[in-house]
Amino acid sequence: MSSQDHLCDIVIFGAAGDLAQRKLIRALFQLDRAGLLNEHSRIIGVARDEYDQEGFAKRCKSSLERFVDSTYLKSDAWEHFKQRLEYSCINLTQKSEFDHLADCLNQRTDSTRIFYYALPASLYGVTSENLHASGCLNDQARVVLEKPIGHDHESSSQINNQVGEFFKESQIYRIDHYLGKETVQNLIALRFANPLFGSQWKQSHISHVEITVAEKVGIEGRWGYFDKAGQMRDMVQNHLLQLLCLTAMDPPADLSADSIRDEKVKVLRALRPISRDMLYSHVVRGRYTRGLIDGQPVPGYMEEEGANPDSTTESFVALKVEINNWRWAGVPFYLRTGKRMPDKLSQITVHFKRQPHHIFDENQRDLARNKLIIRLQPDEGISLQILNKDQGLGKGMRLRSEPLQLSFSQAFGQTRIPDAYERLLLEITQGNQYLFVRRDEIEHAWKWCDQLLDTWEHDGPRIQPYSAGSWGPKASDLLVFKDGNTWHEDD
Ligand code: BG6
Repeated sequence: MSSQDHLCDIVIFGAAGDLAQRKLIRALFQLDRAGLLNEHSRIIGVARDEYDQEGFAKRCKSSLERFVDSTYLKSDAWEHFKQRLEYSCINLTQKSEFDHLADCLNQRTDSTRIFYYALPASLYGVTSENLHASGCLNDQARVVLEKPIGHDHESSSQINNQVGEFFKESQIYRIDHYLGKETVQNLIALRFANPLFGSQWKQSHISHVEITVAEKVGIEGRWGYFDKAGQMRDMVQNHLLQLLCLTAMDPPADLSADSIRDEKVKVLRALRPISRDMLYSHVVRGRYTRGLIDGQPVPGYMEEEGANPDSTTESFVALKVEINNWRWAGVPFYLRTGKRMPDKLSQITVHFKRQPHHIFDENQRDLARNKLIIRLQPDEGISLQILNKDQGLGKGMRLRSEPLQLSFSQAFGQTRIPDAYERLLLEITQGNQYLFVRRDEIEHAWKWCDQLLDTWEHDGPRIQPYSAGSWGPKASDLLVFKDGNTWHEDD
C-alpha cells in the first residue's frame, strides 16, 4: 500500500502556536515534498486568531522560511503545499463554533480524520467533547496528544479519561517525539537483529548503562511552563524513561505496537522505587548559574526572564535507576539530563563487564572493557570500543583501546535526517501506533516519577548549582564514581 492510499484530513488545533508553526507545518511540508501525503489530503489549521485562508497560508510560509532550509522551499513545492491548507477560527469551548469544521469534514466520507491537539492538556477534554457533539467524530477518527499529559499520575489519568470518553485507545496517538528519531528506532534493530548483541544484553555481561540527554539551550522563555515542570517532568518522565525502556526491554514477539508496548510496560513496572533512604545515593538535582555556552555569556536559571525568586525547580537531574528483574538485577542505569550543558548530545553508553581473568599487563587491567556508544544526536551513529594489541615492534603485548565506528550519515549517504515529527506524522496518517505511547506506559512512568517527586519535595537533597556550560554539579560525578564508574566523556 503506498502513502497515496492514505487520504486524510489533518486538523491541527493550536495551529498558530509555536509547536504547530515550528514543527508540524514544517514536517507536513517535508512529507508533501517527498510525495508521502495523499494528493488530496487536507491540512486544516484551527486557532482563535482571526486569519482568512490567505493570512494563514502566509503565516505558514513565513514559518517555513524560518525553519526549512531554503534549498527545499522552492516556489513549486510551496504552491503544492499551500493548496492543502485551510483555516478555521474556533473558540474551543464553544460547541457551536465547531459546526463549520463539521460541515467541512463531512464533505468527504472516505477520508481519515486526524485531530492533532497542539494545545495545553487542559483543553483536551473540552475539545474532544465539542468535536463529538458537533458530529466531527467517526470510528476511524484519530487523535494526537502532545506531552505533557498531566503533571502527575492523577492529572494524567484524568486527562486520559476525558479523551477516552470519545476515543478508543486504538484511536489515540500519544506523542513522545524521541520515539520518532531515526536513531531511537534503530535501537530496536541494533538489539534484536544482531545476535552478537542479543546474546550479551544482560546482567551477566553488562556492568552498567548510561543515558545522557544534554542540551545547550536554557529554558528559552518558557519559565511559566518549565518552572512548574522541572527537568524531571519535562525530560525524565517521558524521553529518558522511553530510552531506558527501549534499551532494557525484552525482545517483543513481533514488531506490532502492542507487543513492543507490552515489553516497555514490563520494564516500567520493574523499576525500583527510589525511597527516602536512597535519595542521597541515587539522586542529584542541579540548577544552572550563569556561565559560558560556546564562549558566550548566558544568564543563570534564576536570572532568566520571568524568574520567580522562590523557585525550587531543577534544570538538571542525574539518577541511578535499578530494574528489578532477572535480566538487569545489579546493573545500574545512570540517567542524566540537563539544560545549559556544553553540548547538545543524546547518547546511550553500554559498558560491558571485564573478562573474568586478566592475562595482560596488570597495569592495563583498567583498560579492559568494551563499551558500546549509541549516539542518538547529533552525528548519529554507533561506536564500539574494542581492545587491540598496540602495533609495532618492541611494544610486547600492550593493549590499546580503539573504536569501531559507524556513522549513519556516511553509511547511508543521507544528506538530511528527517525530523522526528515527519516520521510520527507519517505513521499517524498510516495508522501505525508502535511509535506512540500507550495509556498504561504513561501512567506507570508517572507513578514511578511521582514517588520520587513526592519524596524529594519533602526530604530531598538540596539543589546543587552548576555553571552553565559544564556537565552538571560535581555531585553527579560522585553518583557514578562511588560505584567505581565515570561518565563516558570523562573516561
Ligand atoms: C521537549 C522538552 O520535550 O524536548 C524541551 O519539553 C526539550 O524542554 C526538548 O528542549 C528536547 O528535544 P530535542 O529533540 O531537541 O532533543
